[in-house]
Amino acid sequence: MLPEAVSFDVVDDALTTGDLRNDQVSPLLRQAFPRERWAQLAHRGIHVDFPCFLAPMVGLSHAALRQTIAAYLPAKAQTLVFTEMLSSRRLPTERIGDRPETVRGPQETALVPQLLANEERFIAASIAKLAGLAPVALDINMGCPVSKALRHNWGVALMGDPRYAEEVVRTTVRHSPWPVSVKLRTGLNDDPAYLIDFARMLEAAGAAWLSLHPRIASQQRRGRARWEYIARVRDALSIPVTGNGDVQTANDALAMLRETGCDGVMIGRAAAARPWIVWQIGEALGLPPPLGRAGDAAPSDGWSEGAEFARALTVFIDAAERSFRPADAVKRLGFFTHWGARWLDFGHELWRRVAASPDLPSARCVAAAFFSGPQRMSERTVLAS
Ligand SMILES: Cc1cc2nc3c(=O)[nH]c(=O)nc-3n(C[C@H](O)[C@H](O)[C@H](O)COP(=O)(O)O)c2cc1C
Repeated sequence: MLPEAVSFDVVDDALTTGDLRNDQVSPLLRQAFPRERWAQLAHRGIHVDFPCFLAPMVGLSHAALRQTIAAYLPAKAQTLVFTEMLSSRRLPTERIGDRPETVRGPQETALVPQLLANEERFIAASIAKLAGLAPVALDINMGCPVSKALRHNWGVALMGDPRYAEEVVRTTVRHSPWPVSVKLRTGLNDDPAYLIDFARMLEAAGAAWLSLHPRIASQQRRGRARWEYIARVRDALSIPVTGNGDVQTANDALAMLRETGCDGVMIGRAAAARPWIVWQIGEALGLPPPLGRAGDAAPSDGWSEGAEFARALTVFIDAAERSFRPADAVKRLGFFTHWGARWLDFGHELWRRVAASPDLPSARCVAAAFFSGPQRMSERTVLAS
Protein backbone atom coordinates (compact mmCIF):
# COMPACT_ATOMS: atom_id res chain seq x y z
CA MET A 1 0.00 0.00 0.00
CA LEU A 2 1.33 3.40 -0.92
CA PRO A 3 1.02 6.10 1.69
CA GLU A 4 -1.46 8.82 0.96
CA ALA A 5 -0.10 11.36 -1.50
CA VAL A 6 1.74 14.19 0.19
CA SER A 7 2.86 17.48 -1.26
CA PHE A 8 6.41 18.56 -0.68
CA ASP A 9 5.41 22.17 -1.26
CA VAL A 10 3.52 21.87 2.00
CA VAL A 11 6.60 20.58 3.78
CA ASP A 12 8.70 23.30 2.19
CA ASP A 13 6.36 25.98 3.41
CA ALA A 14 6.28 24.38 6.80
CA LEU A 15 10.01 24.31 7.17
CA THR A 16 10.96 27.57 5.55
CA THR A 17 8.15 30.01 6.18
CA GLY A 18 7.01 28.76 9.53
CA ASP A 19 3.39 28.58 8.30
CA LEU A 20 3.14 25.14 9.75
CA ARG A 21 5.17 24.33 12.83
CA ASN A 22 7.31 21.20 12.62
CA ASP A 23 5.17 19.48 15.22
CA GLN A 24 2.12 20.09 13.03
CA VAL A 25 3.59 18.19 10.07
CA SER A 26 1.95 14.78 10.05
CA PRO A 27 4.18 11.89 11.12
CA LEU A 28 3.67 10.33 7.69
CA LEU A 29 4.87 13.47 5.98
CA ARG A 30 7.87 13.79 8.21
CA GLN A 31 8.72 10.12 8.01
CA ALA A 32 8.29 10.03 4.22
CA PHE A 33 11.26 12.31 3.93
CA PRO A 34 12.88 14.20 6.77
CA ARG A 35 14.58 17.10 5.02
CA GLU A 36 16.12 18.88 7.97
CA ARG A 37 19.46 17.11 7.83
CA TRP A 38 19.93 17.85 4.12
CA ALA A 39 19.05 21.47 4.79
CA GLN A 40 22.12 21.61 7.04
CA LEU A 41 24.26 20.93 3.95
CA ALA A 42 22.65 23.54 1.69
CA HIS A 43 25.36 26.10 2.41
CA ARG A 44 27.89 23.55 1.13
CA GLY A 45 26.09 23.19 -2.21
CA ILE A 46 24.10 20.03 -1.43
CA HIS A 47 20.43 20.33 -2.38
CA VAL A 48 18.17 17.35 -1.94
CA ASP A 49 14.41 17.66 -2.13
CA PHE A 50 13.67 14.21 -3.53
CA PRO A 51 14.62 11.20 -1.40
CA CYS A 52 15.93 8.76 -4.05
CA PHE A 53 19.42 8.21 -5.35
CA LEU A 54 20.88 5.93 -8.00
CA ALA A 55 23.45 3.68 -6.29
CA PRO A 56 27.02 3.51 -7.53
CA MET A 57 27.30 0.39 -9.70
CA VAL A 58 30.27 -0.66 -11.81
CA GLY A 59 29.26 -0.88 -15.47
CA LEU A 60 25.81 0.60 -14.77
CA SER A 61 25.93 3.99 -13.04
CA HIS A 62 27.42 5.75 -16.06
CA ALA A 63 26.25 8.77 -18.03
CA ALA A 64 23.74 6.77 -20.12
CA LEU A 65 21.85 5.25 -17.18
CA ARG A 66 22.11 8.46 -15.18
CA GLN A 67 20.55 10.40 -18.05
CA THR A 68 17.85 7.75 -18.46
CA ILE A 69 16.93 8.06 -14.80
CA ALA A 70 17.05 11.86 -15.02
CA ALA A 71 14.39 11.63 -17.73
CA TYR A 72 12.07 10.01 -15.16
CA LEU A 73 12.71 12.27 -12.18
CA PRO A 74 9.74 14.35 -11.04
CA ALA A 75 10.07 17.75 -12.73
CA LYS A 76 12.50 20.00 -10.87
CA ALA A 77 13.37 17.31 -8.31
CA GLN A 78 16.81 17.78 -6.81
CA THR A 79 18.76 14.72 -5.87
CA LEU A 80 22.33 13.42 -5.87
CA VAL A 81 23.76 11.23 -8.61
CA PHE A 82 26.57 8.77 -7.84
CA THR A 83 29.09 7.49 -10.36
CA GLU A 84 30.35 3.96 -10.23
CA MET A 85 33.47 3.47 -8.12
CA LEU A 86 36.58 5.01 -9.62
CA SER A 87 40.00 3.73 -8.71
CA SER A 88 42.27 6.28 -7.06
CA ARG A 89 45.23 4.39 -8.53
CA ARG A 90 43.94 4.84 -12.03
CA LEU A 91 42.38 8.31 -12.02
CA PRO A 92 45.63 10.26 -11.60
CA THR A 93 47.03 8.88 -14.84
CA GLU A 94 43.99 9.34 -17.05
CA ARG A 95 41.99 12.11 -18.67
CA ILE A 96 38.46 12.69 -17.44
CA GLY A 97 36.01 11.66 -20.15
CA ASP A 98 38.40 9.26 -21.89
CA ARG A 99 36.76 6.18 -20.39
CA PRO A 100 32.97 5.72 -20.14
CA GLU A 101 33.28 5.66 -16.33
CA THR A 102 34.30 9.32 -16.27
CA VAL A 103 32.03 10.67 -19.01
CA ARG A 104 29.64 13.34 -17.81
CA GLY A 105 26.51 14.16 -19.79
CA PRO A 106 26.12 17.80 -20.86
CA GLN A 107 23.07 18.38 -18.66
CA GLU A 108 24.30 16.40 -15.66
CA THR A 109 24.47 18.19 -12.34
CA ALA A 110 24.78 17.09 -8.71
CA LEU A 111 27.32 14.37 -9.52
CA VAL A 112 28.92 12.50 -6.65
CA PRO A 113 31.90 10.51 -7.94
CA GLN A 114 32.72 7.49 -5.81
CA LEU A 115 36.35 6.83 -5.01
CA LEU A 116 38.02 3.58 -4.09
CA ALA A 117 40.95 4.92 -2.14
CA ASN A 118 43.17 4.72 0.90
CA GLU A 119 46.46 6.55 0.30
CA GLU A 120 46.93 10.29 0.56
CA ARG A 121 48.94 10.89 -2.61
CA PHE A 122 46.43 8.99 -4.74
CA ILE A 123 43.49 10.64 -3.01
CA ALA A 124 44.91 14.12 -3.60
CA ALA A 125 45.74 13.42 -7.24
CA SER A 126 42.32 11.86 -7.85
CA ILE A 127 40.53 14.83 -6.35
CA ALA A 128 42.44 17.17 -8.65
CA LYS A 129 41.31 15.09 -11.63
CA LEU A 130 37.72 14.81 -10.47
CA ALA A 131 37.32 18.58 -10.65
CA GLY A 132 36.84 17.88 -14.37
CA LEU A 133 33.48 16.27 -13.52
CA ALA A 134 32.29 19.37 -11.64
CA PRO A 135 31.07 17.25 -8.72
CA VAL A 136 29.03 18.53 -5.79
CA ALA A 137 30.48 15.97 -3.39
CA LEU A 138 32.75 12.95 -3.26
CA ASP A 139 31.89 9.51 -1.90
CA ILE A 140 34.36 7.07 -0.37
CA ASN A 141 33.67 3.41 -1.01
CA MET A 142 33.75 1.37 2.22
CA GLY A 143 31.47 -1.35 0.93
CA CYS A 144 33.13 -3.13 -1.97
CA PRO A 145 33.61 -6.75 -0.85
CA VAL A 146 35.55 -8.22 -3.80
CA SER A 147 38.79 -9.97 -2.93
CA LYS A 148 40.97 -7.41 -4.73
CA ALA A 149 39.54 -4.62 -2.54
CA LEU A 150 40.09 -6.69 0.57
CA ARG A 151 43.70 -7.42 -0.45
CA HIS A 152 44.44 -3.73 -1.00
CA ASN A 153 42.65 -2.56 2.14
CA TRP A 154 40.05 -0.67 0.13
CA GLY A 155 36.28 -0.87 0.16
CA VAL A 156 34.80 -2.85 3.02
CA ALA A 157 38.27 -3.80 4.24
CA LEU A 158 38.43 -0.29 5.71
CA MET A 159 35.56 -1.24 7.99
CA GLY A 160 37.84 -3.74 9.70
CA ASP A 161 40.33 -1.01 10.59
CA PRO A 162 38.49 1.98 12.07
CA ARG A 163 41.63 4.03 12.71
CA TYR A 164 42.78 3.67 9.15
CA ALA A 165 39.26 4.37 7.86
CA GLU A 166 39.18 7.50 9.99
CA GLU A 167 42.48 8.61 8.49
CA VAL A 168 41.13 8.03 4.98
CA VAL A 169 38.10 10.22 5.69
CA ARG A 170 40.13 12.96 7.36
CA THR A 171 42.64 12.97 4.51
CA THR A 172 39.92 13.09 1.86
CA VAL A 173 38.08 15.88 3.67
CA ARG A 174 41.32 17.83 3.93
CA HIS A 175 42.01 17.62 0.21
CA SER A 176 38.45 17.85 -1.08
CA PRO A 177 36.85 21.17 -1.97
CA TRP A 178 33.49 19.34 -1.81
CA PRO A 179 31.67 17.59 1.02
CA VAL A 180 32.73 13.97 1.48
CA SER A 181 30.26 11.14 2.07
CA VAL A 182 30.88 7.46 2.79
CA LYS A 183 29.02 4.42 1.49
CA LEU A 184 29.42 1.56 3.92
CA ARG A 185 28.07 -1.86 4.79
CA THR A 186 27.23 -3.45 8.10
CA GLY A 187 30.90 -4.43 8.15
CA LEU A 188 32.90 -7.63 8.16
CA ASN A 189 30.73 -9.11 10.92
CA ASP A 190 27.13 -8.77 11.94
CA ASP A 191 27.75 -6.52 14.92
CA PRO A 192 25.40 -3.53 15.08
CA ALA A 193 27.21 -1.98 18.06
CA TYR A 194 30.45 -1.97 16.05
CA LEU A 195 28.61 -0.51 13.06
CA ILE A 196 27.16 2.32 15.12
CA ASP A 197 30.56 3.15 16.64
CA PHE A 198 32.10 3.06 13.19
CA ALA A 199 29.40 5.35 11.78
CA ARG A 200 29.89 7.79 14.70
CA MET A 201 33.61 7.78 13.97
CA LEU A 202 32.90 8.65 10.29
CA GLU A 203 30.71 11.56 11.33
CA ALA A 204 33.36 12.85 13.75
CA ALA A 205 36.01 12.52 11.02
CA GLY A 206 34.04 14.87 8.81
CA ALA A 207 31.72 12.74 6.66
CA ALA A 208 28.86 14.94 5.43
CA TRP A 209 26.43 12.03 5.10
CA LEU A 210 26.44 8.22 4.99
CA SER A 211 24.84 5.68 2.67
CA LEU A 212 24.33 2.36 4.44
CA HIS A 213 23.93 -1.00 2.71
CA PRO A 214 23.19 -3.18 5.74
CA ARG A 215 24.74 -6.45 4.66
CA ILE A 216 28.02 -7.92 5.85
CA ALA A 217 30.91 -8.31 3.42
CA SER A 218 30.56 -12.07 2.94
CA GLN A 219 26.90 -11.68 1.95
CA GLN A 220 27.95 -9.57 -1.02
CA ARG A 221 24.44 -8.83 -2.35
CA ARG A 222 22.77 -12.03 -1.17
CA GLY A 223 20.46 -12.64 1.76
CA ARG A 224 18.42 -10.00 3.52
CA ALA A 225 19.51 -6.40 3.97
CA ARG A 226 18.87 -5.56 7.64
CA TRP A 227 16.93 -2.31 7.35
CA GLU A 228 16.67 -2.12 11.14
CA TYR A 229 20.37 -1.18 11.19
CA ILE A 230 19.62 1.82 8.97
CA ALA A 231 17.21 3.12 11.62
CA ARG A 232 19.71 2.51 14.39
CA VAL A 233 22.58 4.25 12.63
CA ARG A 234 20.38 7.19 11.70
CA ASP A 235 19.25 7.54 15.30
CA ALA A 236 22.85 7.59 16.48
CA LEU A 237 24.03 10.37 14.13
CA SER A 238 23.04 13.88 13.22
CA ILE A 239 24.18 13.87 9.56
CA PRO A 240 21.89 12.44 6.83
CA VAL A 241 21.86 8.64 6.59
CA THR A 242 20.45 7.06 3.45
CA GLY A 243 19.42 3.41 3.23
CA ASN A 244 20.21 0.89 0.53
CA GLY A 245 19.41 -2.74 -0.23
CA ASP A 246 16.50 -4.87 -1.42
CA VAL A 247 14.45 -2.07 -2.89
CA GLN A 248 12.76 -3.49 -5.97
CA THR A 249 9.60 -1.40 -6.19
CA ALA A 250 8.35 2.08 -5.34
CA ASN A 251 6.46 0.53 -2.42
CA ASP A 252 9.72 -0.93 -1.10
CA ALA A 253 11.36 2.50 -1.23
CA LEU A 254 8.44 4.09 0.60
CA ALA A 255 8.51 1.28 3.15
CA MET A 256 12.21 1.86 3.77
CA LEU A 257 11.61 5.56 4.33
CA ARG A 258 8.70 4.80 6.64
CA GLU A 259 10.28 1.97 8.61
CA THR A 260 13.74 3.42 9.08
CA GLY A 261 13.17 7.19 9.06
CA CYS A 262 16.20 7.44 6.76
CA ASP A 263 17.07 10.57 4.82
CA GLY A 264 16.73 8.95 1.42
CA VAL A 265 16.74 5.64 -0.38
CA MET A 266 19.59 4.56 -2.59
CA ILE A 267 18.43 2.19 -5.32
CA GLY A 268 20.77 -0.04 -7.31
CA ARG A 269 19.66 -3.00 -9.38
CA ALA A 270 15.99 -2.05 -9.56
CA ALA A 271 16.83 1.44 -10.79
CA ALA A 272 18.66 -0.15 -13.70
CA ALA A 273 15.65 -2.39 -14.40
CA ARG A 274 12.88 0.17 -13.94
CA PRO A 275 14.43 3.65 -14.16
CA TRP A 276 10.87 5.03 -13.90
CA ILE A 277 10.82 3.89 -10.25
CA VAL A 278 11.71 7.49 -9.39
CA TRP A 279 8.56 8.64 -11.21
CA GLN A 280 6.47 6.05 -9.33
CA ILE A 281 7.91 7.17 -6.00
CA GLY A 282 7.43 10.84 -6.86
CA GLU A 283 3.85 10.22 -7.88
CA ALA A 284 3.11 8.45 -4.61
CA LEU A 285 4.56 11.42 -2.77
CA GLY A 286 2.44 13.92 -4.70
CA LEU A 287 5.26 15.25 -6.88
CA PRO A 288 4.73 16.27 -10.52
CA PRO A 289 5.47 13.89 -13.40
CA PRO A 290 8.77 14.06 -15.28
CA LEU A 291 9.27 16.82 -17.84
CA GLY A 292 7.55 15.91 -21.09
CA ARG A 293 5.16 13.46 -19.41
CA ALA A 294 2.58 15.94 -18.10
CA GLY A 295 -0.81 14.27 -17.98
CA ASP A 296 0.68 10.74 -17.91
CA ALA A 297 0.46 8.45 -14.91
CA ALA A 298 3.51 6.46 -13.86
CA PRO A 299 3.42 2.80 -15.02
CA SER A 300 1.47 0.88 -12.42
CA ASP A 301 1.17 -2.74 -13.57
CA GLY A 302 3.25 -5.38 -15.30
CA TRP A 303 2.03 -4.53 -18.81
CA SER A 304 2.44 -0.77 -18.54
CA GLU A 305 5.88 -1.37 -17.05
CA GLY A 306 6.69 -3.66 -19.99
CA ALA A 307 5.70 -0.87 -22.39
CA GLU A 308 7.77 1.65 -20.41
CA PHE A 309 10.77 -0.67 -20.61
CA ALA A 310 10.74 -0.22 -24.39
CA ARG A 311 10.71 3.59 -24.01
CA ALA A 312 13.45 3.53 -21.38
CA LEU A 313 15.58 1.32 -23.62
CA THR A 314 15.30 3.91 -26.39
CA VAL A 315 16.24 6.73 -24.02
CA PHE A 316 19.21 4.63 -22.82
CA ILE A 317 20.40 3.80 -26.35
CA ASP A 318 20.14 7.46 -27.40
CA ALA A 319 22.12 8.53 -24.33
CA ALA A 320 24.73 5.80 -24.84
CA GLU A 321 25.11 6.84 -28.46
CA ARG A 322 25.67 10.48 -27.45
CA SER A 323 28.00 9.64 -24.56
CA PHE A 324 30.29 6.78 -25.59
CA ARG A 325 32.33 5.38 -28.43
CA PRO A 326 30.29 2.80 -30.39
CA ALA A 327 32.02 -0.26 -28.91
CA ASP A 328 31.69 1.09 -25.35
CA ALA A 329 28.04 1.93 -25.96
CA VAL A 330 27.24 -1.59 -27.21
CA LYS A 331 29.00 -3.16 -24.24
CA ARG A 332 27.10 -1.02 -21.74
CA LEU A 333 23.81 -1.61 -23.48
CA GLY A 334 24.40 -5.37 -23.14
CA PHE A 335 25.08 -5.06 -19.40
CA PHE A 336 22.10 -2.77 -18.84
CA THR A 337 19.82 -5.21 -20.65
CA HIS A 338 21.30 -8.13 -18.73
CA TRP A 339 20.22 -6.59 -15.40
CA GLY A 340 16.90 -5.12 -16.47
CA ALA A 341 15.78 -8.19 -18.36
CA ARG A 342 15.58 -10.23 -15.15
CA TRP A 343 12.26 -8.59 -14.40
CA LEU A 344 10.78 -9.23 -17.88
CA ASP A 345 8.89 -12.47 -18.57
CA PHE A 346 10.98 -13.13 -21.69
CA GLY A 347 13.88 -10.95 -20.68
CA HIS A 348 16.50 -13.59 -21.28
CA GLU A 349 15.52 -13.62 -24.96
CA LEU A 350 15.75 -9.81 -25.16
CA TRP A 351 19.16 -9.89 -23.51
CA ARG A 352 20.40 -12.69 -25.80
CA ARG A 353 19.39 -10.76 -28.91
CA VAL A 354 20.71 -7.40 -27.71
CA ALA A 355 23.99 -8.95 -26.55
CA ALA A 356 24.44 -10.53 -29.98
CA SER A 357 23.94 -7.18 -31.75
CA PRO A 358 27.18 -5.91 -33.29
CA ASP A 359 26.17 -2.25 -33.12
CA LEU A 360 23.53 0.13 -31.79
CA PRO A 361 21.39 0.24 -34.96
CA SER A 362 21.01 -3.56 -34.88
CA ALA A 363 20.28 -3.43 -31.14
CA ARG A 364 17.56 -0.87 -31.82
CA CYS A 365 16.04 -3.22 -34.41
CA VAL A 366 16.02 -6.27 -32.12
CA ALA A 367 14.58 -4.21 -29.28
CA ALA A 368 11.83 -2.85 -31.55
CA ALA A 369 11.00 -6.38 -32.74
CA PHE A 370 10.93 -7.73 -29.18
CA PHE A 371 8.60 -4.97 -28.00
CA SER A 372 6.35 -5.08 -31.08
CA GLY A 373 3.99 -7.15 -28.94
CA PRO A 374 3.06 -6.51 -25.30
CA GLN A 375 5.65 -7.57 -22.72
CA ARG A 376 5.05 -8.07 -19.03
CA MET A 377 7.39 -7.05 -16.25
CA SER A 378 7.30 -8.67 -12.81
CA GLU A 379 7.11 -6.60 -9.69
CA ARG A 380 9.96 -8.63 -8.21
CA THR A 381 12.65 -11.02 -9.22
CA VAL A 382 15.07 -13.20 -7.28
CA LEU A 383 18.16 -11.09 -6.71
CA ALA A 384 20.83 -13.61 -5.94
CA SER A 385 23.73 -11.53 -7.26
C1 LIG B 1 26.67 -4.53 -11.01
C2 LIG B 1 26.87 -3.89 -9.67
C3 LIG B 1 27.97 -3.08 -9.45
C4 LIG B 1 28.15 -2.44 -8.22
N1 LIG B 1 29.19 -1.57 -8.05
C5 LIG B 1 29.28 -0.82 -6.91
C6 LIG B 1 30.20 0.26 -6.80
O1 LIG B 1 30.92 0.59 -7.75
N2 LIG B 1 30.27 0.92 -5.62
C7 LIG B 1 29.46 0.61 -4.56
O2 LIG B 1 29.55 1.26 -3.52
N3 LIG B 1 28.55 -0.38 -4.65
C8 LIG B 1 28.42 -1.07 -5.81
N4 LIG B 1 27.43 -2.00 -5.94
C9 LIG B 1 26.49 -2.22 -4.82
C10 LIG B 1 25.27 -1.30 -4.97
O3 LIG B 1 25.64 0.07 -4.92
C11 LIG B 1 24.23 -1.59 -3.88
O4 LIG B 1 24.84 -1.35 -2.63
C12 LIG B 1 23.73 -3.03 -3.91
O5 LIG B 1 23.44 -3.44 -5.24
C13 LIG B 1 22.46 -3.18 -3.04
O6 LIG B 1 21.45 -2.31 -3.51
P1 LIG B 1 20.21 -2.85 -4.40
O7 LIG B 1 19.56 -3.98 -3.67
O8 LIG B 1 19.31 -1.64 -4.54
O9 LIG B 1 20.78 -3.29 -5.72
C14 LIG B 1 27.23 -2.65 -7.15
C15 LIG B 1 26.13 -3.49 -7.40
C16 LIG B 1 25.93 -4.08 -8.62
C17 LIG B 1 24.70 -4.93 -8.85
